[in-house]
Amino acid sequence: MRFDIITIFPSIFKSYLKESLIRRALEKGSIEVNIHNLRKWADDKHGSVDDKPFGGENGMVMMAEPISRAVKNIRKGEDSMVILFTPRGKKFNQQKATEFSNYKQIIMICGRYEGVDERVAKYVANENISIGNYVLMGGELPAMVVLETASRLVPNVIGKESFLKNRKVGESFIEYPQYTRPEKIEIEGKERKVPNILLSGNHKEIKKWRDKKGKIIR
Ligand SMILES: C[S@@+](CC[C@H](N)C(=O)[O-])C[C@H]1O[C@@H](n2cnc3c(N)ncnc32)[C@H](O)[C@@H]1O
Repeated sequence: MRFDIITIFPSIFKSYLKESLIRRALEKGSIEVNIHNLRKWADDKHGSVDDKPFGGENGMVMMAEPISRAVKNIRKGEDSMVILFTPRGKKFNQQKATEFSNYKQIIMICGRYEGVDERVAKYVANENISIGNYVLMGGELPAMVVLETASRLVPNVIGKESFLKNRKVGESFIEYPQYTRPEKIEIEGKERKVPNILLSGNHKEIKKWRDKKGKIIR
């Protein structure tokens, strides 16, 4: 699976891609990630990619043409999904991550400033995605969120396939409380223990407990 991220701040991704499971997935070749500086597709030698908004107002808006050119150059074929990040978009969730993980190529457009010329949302992107009801400074964190959630679902990225299956409930997933050693600890003068069932070694009962305590997230 291949991810292409279009941004005016390519360095933001440097350390992120060098750590943990994402780094390993890249090394193993389970995923490929390409970071593209949008300024490469600018019209002028200054690399301008934004302009004043029509109708007035403060701030700058990212122009549609450099983005459209970038996508045209980066897109590899039919089996690709072009995502524009915007707080006006469809809310991202695990179902969307699953859907995205089935594409061969995911192209992500990171907005900045006051946002992106609406013609990108309408005529360039296949999906407009918001990661939540709040306004970030740019689309780079949303791109990491999509990259991480979708690549987790790619075979061999997080190791055990059974782990993914066990947590799946239809298109949703289950999250249950987790504990680790030591069995007993003291927090603010009070003893806090791990639930006995998790120490019992009875896997059938442990599964029942996890199903009961688990929260299904849709
Ligand atoms: C300061 S925001 C722009 C806010 C602008 N008023 C708008 O509605 O798009 C700059 C960029 O950050 C990204 N962004 C901000 N909040 C986001 C969110 N909740 N989900 C996805 N992308 C977001 C988008 O790419 C957006 O173009």
